[in-house]
Amino acid sequence: MLNVELRNKTFVLLVYAGVITIVLLLIPGDQTAKQYIAPYFEGADGTGGMAGQVGRTIESLILNLLHIIKIVLWMAFVILIVRYLNFVVFNVVLRNSTQTEISSLIRSVVSIIISIVAFFIIFQSQYPNVELTALFTGSTILGIVVGLALQDTLGNLFAGIALQADQSFQVGDVINIQSNKWVGVIEQVSWRGVKIRTFQNKVVVISNAVLGKEVIEVAPKENLNARLIFFNTLYSNPPTKTIQLVRDVISKVENVSTKFRPNVRVRNLGDNGIDYEVKVWLDDYSRYNDTDALIRKRIWYAFRREGIDFAFPTRTLYIQKEKAPIDENEAITEIGMRLAEVSLFTPLSEHEMKRIAQKVMVKLFSPDEPIVKRGQEGSSMFVIQRGSVKVQVRDRGKAKVIMKLSEGDFFGEMALFTGEPRTATVIATEETEVLEITHRSLKPILEENPELVERFSEIIESRRVKLSESAESDTMSGKDPKAGVFNSIRKFFGLGKTGE
Ligand code: CMP
Repeated sequence: MLNVELRNKTFVLLVYAGVITIVLLLIPGDQTAKQYIAPYFEGADGTGGMAGQVGRTIESLILNLLHIIKIVLWMAFVILIVRYLNFVVFNVVLRNSTQTEISSLIRSVVSIIISIVAFFIIFQSQYPNVELTALFTGSTILGIVVGLALQDTLGNLFAGIALQADQSFQVGDVINIQSNKWVGVIEQVSWRGVKIRTFQNKVVVISNAVLGKEVIEVAPKENLNARLIFFNTLYSNPPTKTIQLVRDVISKVENVSTKFRPNVRVRNLGDNGIDYEVKVWLDDYSRYNDTDALIRKRIWYAFRREGIDFAFPTRTLYIQKEKAPIDENEAITEIGMRLAEVSLFTPLSEHEMKRIAQKVMVKLFSPDEPIVKRGQEGSSMFVIQRGSVKVQVRDRGKAKVIMKLSEGDFFGEMALFTGEPRTATVIATEETEVLEITHRSLKPILEENPELVERFSEIIESRRVKLSESAESDTMSGKDPKAGVFNSIRKFFGLGKTGE
């Protein structure tokens, strides 16, 4: 593509250069011109008189005209060459080497300087007796007039050069001037100013002098620029689910970069609900308006699918039908059924299960949140209703996972039954719902089911063995383990003398 353009330009240059050279060769020099003119005007050959005076004037006019035509033709020639070289140097050589578009400001400045120098040389060759430099420097009035007339223009030019020297921005970057007053993609950088195509497809031209004084925000086109998008949900929607969902949905939006994972986080626990912030990196930042809109739209649909609600401003009158009261019996039966699935509780009757279920507390934990911590006091145990946990101990100063437990498993029974501090730290590995059973609610059940103590002590014992193998354990070492656990459970629950 570039080669074809270069060939065309070379062809055009050669044709124009040929024509200009021919015309220049055809224009006669001063002496030849005088010879041609002489026969037509009496005075031209120095015969004097009124007619001679007019003749000399006309002769000098014609000679001057020829000089001016030559200057114009030479300048046309120079401009042609400058433009051609400009194209070759900036578009072909430099563009290939740096892969960046050289701004038109630099190109214009270079062209102007070469043209001015060429003009001086050409002018001097045509009028060797005229002191051009003296003309420019000696005339104070001319200097003032030109200075005043060019004040703004030169201001823009120098501000433009300063901005370019900084390399603050280039064509294709997204620029934001005067805090969102002008936002758009830079289309051209010239000696006068910067042309921005706004997102309403208007062109805004801002002079370099104004730009030089402004705070400008630039999103370079080579950069992976990020966007922030905000939304909020009701407090009843768990953050883990929301964050996971939004992250999945956003990753699939077109123009969202796959190089970085979108970041979704809780920004604030606001008056109306949970405020979230989404940070995404865009492949093409100049399309951020469309991408933002698409992300919001996708979030809305995802929320619809998953039953997540946006928070309403508190000023909105939100009339909600009163929900049917939760059937407590039904809830208790449901929890009772869940407990019945736990192997430990299988000897219990339906009635006993219900008694425990009545006092159970349902608790929700976020991923990576500790549920119990090693060394702390504890008087309850937990059954995993939904989710999973890891049991972690310290081994030679480092955290070590010794067991993973999931739905239907239980933990926290050791401290509950023995009254000793927690033997391990248990952490939720995902959003996890647990049923918490307290010492108080278990006591009457154990009193009525002594065999349960036996079962608990067996499980606790096997867990203890594993603990002492894999951790800096300080539990019950040196005692007859099984009898120790059994007795301490009976003692802690006030169940009378040992069952040895
Ligand atoms: P507790 O000591 O009250 O608190 C930490 C809990 O981690 C502990 O009760 C057990 O329920 C659990 N735990 C400790 N060791 C193991 C293990 N080896 N396997 C499964 N769970 C364990």
